[in-house]
Amino acid sequence: MTPYEKIFENNRRWAEEQLRTDPEYFAKLSVEQRPDFLYIGCSDSRVPANQIMGLPPGDVFVHRNIANLVNNVDLNVMSVISYGVQTLDVKHIIVCGHYGCGGVKAAMQPRDLGILNPWLRNIRDVYRLHKAELDAIKDEAQRYDRLVEINVTEQCINIIKTAAVQKSFLIRGFPTVHAWVFDMRNGLIKDLKLDFRATLRNIQQVYDLTGSSWD
Ligand code: CO
Repeated sequence: MTPYEKIFENNRRWAEEQLRTDPEYFAKLSVEQRPDFLYIGCSDSRVPANQIMGLPPGDVFVHRNIANLVNNVDLNVMSVISYGVQTLDVKHIIVCGHYGCGGVKAAMQPRDLGILNPWLRNIRDVYRLHKAELDAIKDEAQRYDRLVEINVTEQCINIIKTAAVQKSFLIRGFPTVHAWVFDMRNGLIKDLKLDFRATLRNIQQVYDLTGSSWD
């Protein structure tokens, strides 16, 4: 059996296993999705959203791209956020980066990466915003680790800039946005403890899209 064929074998076994535990499993799963979490993470094959969160199908709405970026002209991620907030009513939006991110590393190399240039340029912009802090870190590995963290925080800020999130939070009190970094060296998620309310208040001095100040 080839690795490709093995997938279908795995899939049949998985489906059978679910039915053994709960004969109604797929009947229930196929009705609708009501996930509380929207997860935006890196495409890296070593960071599977549901598995690291220990959550089954139906519990996480997922978007992944190279280096977990939230770019305001990316129709894809903006649609996911809009649908997640306005239709699925997610309570939490998580941006999860990971140490050792190839995208973050590639972004900082002095090389022409073709179509990846404009995508990864977002990370250079993050570096420029935080140049003083990052340049002060002499150890290169530590500097990349910190850039991974700062990149996640900046992408959270990009989410908080959206009208969908600002309006929903003003009216309904959710979603809140969280900054995480996954460490594949020990399998643990680090919560960077983003202060959502303070960040929102700060952002709205320039990016308010609700037309009503709040405190
Ligand atoms: Co990555």
